[in-house]
Amino acid sequence: MAVGIFDSGLGGLTVLKAAQSRLPDVDFLYYADSARAPYGVRDAEDIYQLTKSAVQDMWSKGCDLVILACNTASAAALRRMQEEGLPAGKRVLGVFVPLIEAMTERQWGDNSPPREVAVKHVALFATPATVSSRAFQRELAFRAIGVDVEAQACGGIVDAIEDGDMILAEALVRSHVEALKRKMPEPQAAILGCTHYPLLESCFQDALGADVKVFSQGKLVADSLADYLQRHPHMQGSGAGGYYTTGNPDRVSDRATQFLRRQISFQAA
Ligand code: DGL
Repeated sequence: MAVGIFDSGLGGLTVLKAAQSRLPDVDFLYYADSARAPYGVRDAEDIYQLTKSAVQDMWSKGCDLVILACNTASAAALRRMQEEGLPAGKRVLGVFVPLIEAMTERQWGDNSPPREVAVKHVALFATPATVSSRAFQRELAFRAIGVDVEAQACGGIVDAIEDGDMILAEALVRSHVEALKRKMPEPQAAILGCTHYPLLESCFQDALGADVKVFSQGKLVADSLADYLQRHPHMQGSGAGGYYTTGNPDRVSDRATQFLRRQISFQAA
């Protein structure tokens, strides 16, 4: 029995880590489409097709529930996959909603009309594809009014992380934060809208300053998954857990081991 966690690459490990610590008795099947990462520079159609094919592979490996631990896939593919209809007994969930519920201080599943919230100036850091989808602003508008969102498309960060070049990744974070601050000098909150970015959370926090509340998805998604599995305990699938990649398993295992600080062994998807 395993719950699927999908990302284009290594970023979803930040969600997996939180989910494993929140749900120690649940098995997870992690799937990285490393051969085709990054997704964030692709167009929406391409991201949809790649995500759909990876999720189908995860279903065939025995997952019933797949979490798209990738904002880019959540933005470009989730709604379309759900609208087109999923096979019986299969579910796909994304990572935006738990984050927006936390930012707007709503309880899970609170469907009351949008209302004013405490935070008014929000910086969104995400991939170019997530920013251009405006999916975050659309989901936010269902829940809150009067929030000014300034988005920064953070080109290059995902590639640098996937290549293990954390010095370049940190330099890019600082330059993207500077660019954001030129557009919005005093954000109250910052959203790390890409699951790779929590690997650089302290760098974002330093560049933004201590007054800015930084939201990242790992723990929020893990809490929301725990709530979901309590309500749907049969959604834990039938296959075994494990780590799969469409890329080079040795290379991906080395990077994952470095990020999670424990031995991780990927196999070919
Ligand atoms: N971790 C993915 C996300 O949350 C990265 C996307 C990419 O591959 O560019 O958006």
